[in-house]
Amino acid sequence: MKVLLTGGAGFIGRNLVEAYLKRGDQVVVVDSKAAHTEFEWLSDCKVYGVDIRDEAFVDIVKKEKPDLINHHAAQIDVQSAIADPIKDASINILGTINVLEACRSVPGCRLIYPSSAAIYGTPDYLGVDELHPIRPLSMYGISKYNPEEYIRTYSNLYGIRYTIFRYANVYGRYQDPKGEGGVICVLMNSALKKQLFTMFGDGKQTRDFIHVDDIVSANLLASDESFNDVFNISTGKATSLIETVQYMEGVAGFELEKQIKEERKGDIKHSYLTNEKALAKMGWAPRIDIKKGLGETYSFYRS
Ligand SMILES: NC(=O)c1ccc[n+]([C@@H]2O[C@H](COP(=O)([O-])OP(=O)(O)OC[C@H]3O[C@@H](n4cnc5c(N)ncnc54)[C@H](O)[C@@H]3O)[C@@H](O)[C@H]2O)c1
Repeated sequence: MKVLLTGGAGFIGRNLVEAYLKRGDQVVVVDSKAAHTEFEWLSDCKVYGVDIRDEAFVDIVKKEKPDLINHHAAQIDVQSAIADPIKDASINILGTINVLEACRSVPGCRLIYPSSAAIYGTPDYLGVDELHPIRPLSMYGISKYNPEEYIRTYSNLYGIRYTIFRYANVYGRYQDPKGEGGVICVLMNSALKKQLFTMFGDGKQTRDFIHVDDIVSANLLASDESFNDVFNISTGKATSLIETVQYMEGVAGFELEKQIKEERKGDIKHSYLTNEKALAKMGWAPRIDIKKGLGETYSFYRS
């Protein structure tokens, strides 16, 4: 299969590149970051350092004729989205429309799109299922949700087959600390460098931390078959920050030096997503619990 992966130079993208190459797929990467830097892990892929919003992107797709576009390129920083909502919307919304225009220009080309738990906002109930109201608290949440509607509309109009995922907080190897699952990266850094870890609030706030290998397995399933539907991709479990810190200390083998600061405004107190729909319709379930995932990630960064 020929996969065109946008955002292949990023955290999840790099993990996907490795997985696709491992199973023998042909991988074409489009990532604006690759315009300035060469990434050694992309040496077995065809790489275009092009912006997904450019007309050139449509030409690349027409030329490459992929079976699937896996569209992971995005502006992912919540604070940047608040500071510059026009740029955020331009990349995440207009960029995705350009991806859809490109997709419809190649007969039979299918699509994977990663949306986010950020679209739900403060939960009305826990665990949050796919029918929960959409009430994003940030521009990023809006710009991740809006393309979902475009994808459904393009599918109705042009028959594009698709799968939409709504990821919980993803963590694992190759992650940049600024991402949505950033707290685990910050914890990792504190443990590896033996630096002070700052905890905001009482540490009882909960999140649904999913390991990137579970994200990859969901993507591989949806690469082989499109489900024309939307799925939470999550552990279905809430883990408190305090628990996460304790697991990290267990993995590192020593107690972290911690400081507690006032709770940050706008932070959601509790959140986890159900994943039953993905199991029922896709046959997907997460395999890596937080303790194992932290252990694997810590070993990766240590080496
Ligand atoms: N990391 C998470 O916890 C999480 C959670 C929910 C959803 N997601 C979604 O998963 C996807 C990947 O996230 P990630 O954490 O790997 O992010 P990342 O920032 O590591 O990777 C995104 C990549 O997209 C590229 N990119 C950005 N704008 C571009 C543009 N205009 N044209 C071409 N390339 C561009 C970047 O250079 C980067 O390499 C994003 O769509 C994100 O919204 C991530």
